[in-house]
Amino acid sequence: MARKQLLQLLLALMLQTQTLSQILDTGLLQQTMNDIPHVHVMLRRRQLHEDAANANARWFMQRTETPHCTHSYDEEQSLPGVDSRDSLALVIGLPQLISNSGAAALMQRAGVFFYIIGDTLGELSEQQLLQVEQSCRQLWIRRKIYNRYIITDTAIYIYDPFARRDANGMDAWEASFGRLLPFMGGEPLPELLFHNMRGYPLRVQIFKSVYARPVFDPETGLLAELTGVDWEVAQALRDLLNFTMDLQEPDKNYFGERSANGSYNGAIGSIQNDGLDICLTGFFVKDYLVQDDMDFTVAVYDDQLCIYVPKASPIPQSILPIFAVGYDIWLGFILMAFVCAFIWLLLRVINLRLRIVTVAGRRLWQQALAIVVDTWVVWVRVNLSHLPDSYAERMFIGSLCLVSVIFGAIFESSLATVYIHPLHYKDIMTMQDLDDSGLKVVYKYTSMADDLFFSETSPLFASLNKKLWWNRDLNADVTLEVATVGGKAGVSRYNSLIMESANFLLTQRIWIVPECPKYYTISYVLPRDAPWEEAVNTQLLRLLNAGLIHKWILDQKYRVTMRMRTILNQAEDNASPIRVLTIGDLQLAFYVVIVGTLLASLGFIGEHVWLRHSLRGSRKKL
Ligand SMILES: *[C@@H]1O[C@H](CO)[C@@H](O)[C@H](O)[C@H]1NC(C)=O
Ligand SMILES: *[C@@H]1O[C@H](CO)[C@@H](O)[C@H](O)[C@H]1NC(C)=O
Repeated sequence: MARKQLLQLLLALMLQTQTLSQILDTGLLQQTMNDIPHVHVMLRRRQLHEDAANANARWFMQRTETPHCTHSYDEEQSLPGVDSRDSLALVIGLPQLISNSGAAALMQRAGVFFYIIGDTLGELSEQQLLQVEQSCRQLWIRRKIYNRYIITDTAIYIYDPFARRDANGMDAWEASFGRLLPFMGGEPLPELLFHNMRGYPLRVQIFKSVYARPVFDPETGLLAELTGVDWEVAQALRDLLNFTMDLQEPDKNYFGERSANGSYNGAIGSIQNDGLDICLTGFFVKDYLVQDDMDFTVAVYDDQLCIYVPKASPIPQSILPIFAVGYDIWLGFILMAFVCAFIWLLLRVINLRLRIVTVAGRRLWQQALAIVVDTWVVWVRVNLSHLPDSYAERMFIGSLCLVSVIFGAIFESSLATVYIHPLHYKDIMTMQDLDDSGLKVVYKYTSMADDLFFSETSPLFASLNKKLWWNRDLNADVTLEVATVGGKAGVSRYNSLIMESANFLLTQRIWIVPECPKYYTISYVLPRDAPWEEAVNTQLLRLLNAGLIHKWILDQKYRVTMRMRTILNQAEDNASPIRVLTIGDLQLAFYVVIVGTLLASLGFIGEHVWLRHSLRGSRKKL
């Protein structure tokens, strides 16, 4: 408390003596300050007087619009209670700054740092500048910290990690990149420096995924070539930012699996261990529990996670014709026959009542039976050998014939189609069907499955979640297994199925359940607060706005379609284009003949028994 009052007193005193900061009042830092929401001004506890009187420190306290608060601190100790995204303006001694220790040993790279050199007056000597440069280079190499302004009475210096030193005797790689330069004003450093990275090497990893196809050298097993959308994006970024792409060998664990102690392997593991500067393979944007180490770029595209299952088996040839038309047509066909028979019977009754026709020796129910039989005979397009006497009834039979021709045409055309395009039993259409089918759902990458069926969502998802099964074999081809062996379902990205398993889809070996449980946006990943994050995002947004990424995706899909079409055409050329029906396709006809014969025999026996019975009855009467 006492310290604060002292500070306020000092500030009040200082206000009256208006010595101006010559360098800061020129407005060099204007744009940088506009971007900073708040700045902590730190004065050394031991030199509070001098520091509070420092013209540059006073500029931060009085002459900027940026809100600030003032603290005192101890140069030799690390700064307590600084948030990782805070921006600081520290008055500091030159030796302390060069040593990169104590208060100068900050390990965060999200904030902006202003180091006001406290005790050294006038210009820095050549020797001092070299020392500062060396300490800046160390910070860059160790932690990629660069967003710092070193303010002396006469100049502002920044460290440009991409500027090259003229090669005079310096052979180490470290010496070739990075220079301390006077700051000439303009944009904040993240924009200013990253317009042109001047060939600085960035470690980039791209592994196999939907939009990235690595090709390996068969002899060495090393990456030989890359194709796909992600590679196009990588090349565009390289050209726009002018960095050198130091392409890493793809990790065999791809995205990475989380182990029990929270560490990852794969690309996420590389990022955690500072082995990777940017991974240009799309990741689902979701929580991987590594928010302290990893960041996503802007979303570049999106995709769905879908379940694929073996295609339903084809309907066997023997009963195929029955399924040639829908059940509604069958139902209409059968019901209409009875309705028509009923109408015919009504006509007959009216005729009898009006005595237009007379039918001798037959009771009404016998006539009704005869009418039903005759209707069916007409209905299956057989001619009646004996027509009724009434012309009204004959007209009606004519209309029946016409309707039966239409039904017949429908049946015949459907039959022809059905032999060329075989029908399948009903496929799994919804998640509920999938649950009922009892298939286990196999996945290869935990990142795909860990929130696929979030158990709390519904009892259905809870039940499906229990059916998930992890295939740990990195070389397993789940799609192939589902297509050939069957008996299980798989999880994959929709586009990956469309592009990589198109052959299975076209040959009707697998089936994508139309209800996809999860929708994701997809981003690239980089280490958290990576210096190039903003630059990469800016360029990605430009590519997106220009529609280039969309175009590359369409291009890739087009190439897949063309390849598939060629394969299919070849397959069709080999197979006969015209389907010739064989004796095997006649199966149903034989069944119908057998069943018909059986029914006819039954009818024969029935009629025979009936005749005997009535003969015996009439003999008794005699
Ligand atoms: C890219 O960087 C190289 C240095 O590696 C430089 O010669 C070249 O001029 C830069 N390109 C652009 C467009 O600035
Ligand atoms: C975590 O576990 C993995 C193996 O599961 C091991 O390789 C790694 O060294 C462990 N990391 C730590 C920090 O214990």
